[in-house]
Amino acid sequence: MKRLSRKFPSTRSRRLRKNHVIRDLVSDVTINKSKLIQPLFVSDENSKNIDLVSMPGQKLFSRQGLIKEIDMLLSLGIKTVAIFPNLSSVKKDITGSEAINPDNFICETIKTIKDKFPELIVISDVALDPYTSTGHDGIVINNYVDNDETLKMLQKMSINLAASGSDILAPSDMMDGRIGAIRSDLEAAGHKDTILLSYSSKFSSNFYGPFREAVGSKRKQGISKKTYQMDYRNSKEALMKAEMDINEGADILMVKPAMPNSDIIHSLSENYSIPIFAYQVSGEYSMIQLGIDKKIFDNNVIDESLITLFRAGAKSVLTYYAKWMAKKYD
Ligand code: PBG
Repeated sequence: MKRLSRKFPSTRSRRLRKNHVIRDLVSDVTINKSKLIQPLFVSDENSKNIDLVSMPGQKLFSRQGLIKEIDMLLSLGIKTVAIFPNLSSVKKDITGSEAINPDNFICETIKTIKDKFPELIVISDVALDPYTSTGHDGIVINNYVDNDETLKMLQKMSINLAASGSDILAPSDMMDGRIGAIRSDLEAAGHKDTILLSYSSKFSSNFYGPFREAVGSKRKQGISKKTYQMDYRNSKEALMKAEMDINEGADILMVKPAMPNSDIIHSLSENYSIPIFAYQVSGEYSMIQLGIDKKIFDNNVIDESLITLFRAGAKSVLTYYAKWMAKKYD
């Protein structure tokens, strides 16, 4: 950037901060609800919606409750959702076999939803954690999450999710090679326009705790997700994974958690031309919401937490606050 010798008083930064109309005119970023995506949890066994204790204000929906909620979101202008299933334990096993049943709960739910709301954009998570008895995103063999055996499951799962009408598949499993494997299967099966949103920088994070309660994927075994999710001490690795995912056929890359990783959002958006999304995850939501509930800060902190992600370079943000923001900016 060219350095100008700008000096006081010919330059007074405060001129452009004088009132909110002027501040709005010169701001880099404005919140726009077409850029917000609502994650939703749905249960296969509850007939009523259940409040999530560790995510005050969020719910585990029944299937009927989910349909109502989506109807409401669309009327508020939120047109994209990411749906996560919470399955009863009888459907879980060591290989997550229910994940590849083409008529499983999530596939049926997506079909129903797309039938009712064809204009809705549905993002489906591709990972085995709702289906495995271990809570891992892959198949545990000899006390280790096996990459290549898991890939075979993810490929089949992806075809089923695409066939059910998912517009976007979001592999969040962090197995190596999954984008290429899924992309070639999608092409072969004729799903040429299915979008792959790769969780390319998914850090092994403490901020996912409340989500694991919501989907019932708390791990019972000692193996850490650190053997497949990215180490949050690293940033160059995020660039390498982004490059690989783009080469393998990703259309969009995701960074998560969002707020602790704004540097990664920024460097990916500077370095690559495909869109970068950010996921403000469950723990970020809970931290902010509990602070608001305890009156430690007011709810403008929500706007700030999202705006700074867009400023960092995110094109869209997955946030549990999507509905709330849509109401605020109606
Ligand atoms: C798992 C998955 C996780 C999240 C999205 N997909 C959790 C995990 O890896 O254990 C976290 C989202 C959140 O915390 O809001 N496939």
